[in-house]
Amino acid sequence: VSVALIGGTGEQGRGLAARWALAGIEVVIGSRSKERARRAAEEVSTMTGKKVLGLMNPDAAERAEIIILTIPFRGVEAIMKTLKKELEEKKIISPIVPPRDYRKSAAEKIRELAPKSASVASAFHNVGAHALLDLSKPVECDVVVCGEGEAKRAAMELAEKIPGIRALDGGSLENSRITEALTHLIIQLNKKYGKKAIGIKFTGIS
Ligand SMILES: NC(=O)c1ccc[n+]([C@@H]2O[C@H](COP(=O)([O-])OP(=O)(O)OC[C@H]3O[C@@H](n4cnc5c(N)ncnc54)[C@H](OP(=O)(O)O)[C@@H]3O)[C@@H](O)[C@H]2O)c1
Repeated sequence: VSVALIGGTGEQGRGLAARWALAGIEVVIGSRSKERARRAAEEVSTMTGKKVLGLMNPDAAERAEIIILTIPFRGVEAIMKTLKKELEEKKIISPIVPPRDYRKSAAEKIRELAPKSASVASAFHNVGAHALLDLSKPVECDVVVCGEGEAKRAAMELAEKIPGIRALDGGSLENSRITEALTHLIIQLNKKYGKKAIGIKFTGIS
């Protein structure tokens, strides 16, 4: 497998990149700037001792089978236009959390904008960059994956490559409204209890 993190220069992208590089997955960090991509890739390579590539977003997307959109919600429309061709037949995974008052999910918006041949899922909203970037510890949380068959399978496999994470099938893409919104609650809990890496675990499954 090969994974491209679009906007992988941010905290969430670097955190996921580091965890997957350590798991032996081929990782490419994408950016709107070649220099920022190169710097982030170098940083993750140094953290992990694994070779990580840094490329412009379209080149990163072209190279990988699985595309993770680690960009802010406000960038979704522009990025989906720029990458239209590169996203054909790819598995697209969104960890994007839209503003609290957004009525749909970011994942459903991405489905509307993505090529028909692509498969779309959402995951990794409820795991924070702080926990991902602390490579000295397992992440210890559940990752609920919502969406379409192929992308969902890919996201669940990728989630379970990260030590401490259990992947759960959260059903259809529409349920992303719930997992995306939960992030706002987790952010509030982190503030309230003075923590940086609160996560969610469901009981009674196994
Ligand atoms: N941080 C977390 O703990 C966390 C947790 C759960 C979910 N998420 C979600 O994961 C996504 C990434 O989070 P983050 O904290 O890493 O975000 P970020 O640092 O704000 O942005 C990530 C990268 O996206 C690119 N970018 C910024 N504005 C853009 C635009 N208008 N169009 C296209 N690209 C743009 C930038 O890369 P270049 O300038 O290099 O192109 C930036 O480094 C967000 O949607 C967030 O909701 C984050």
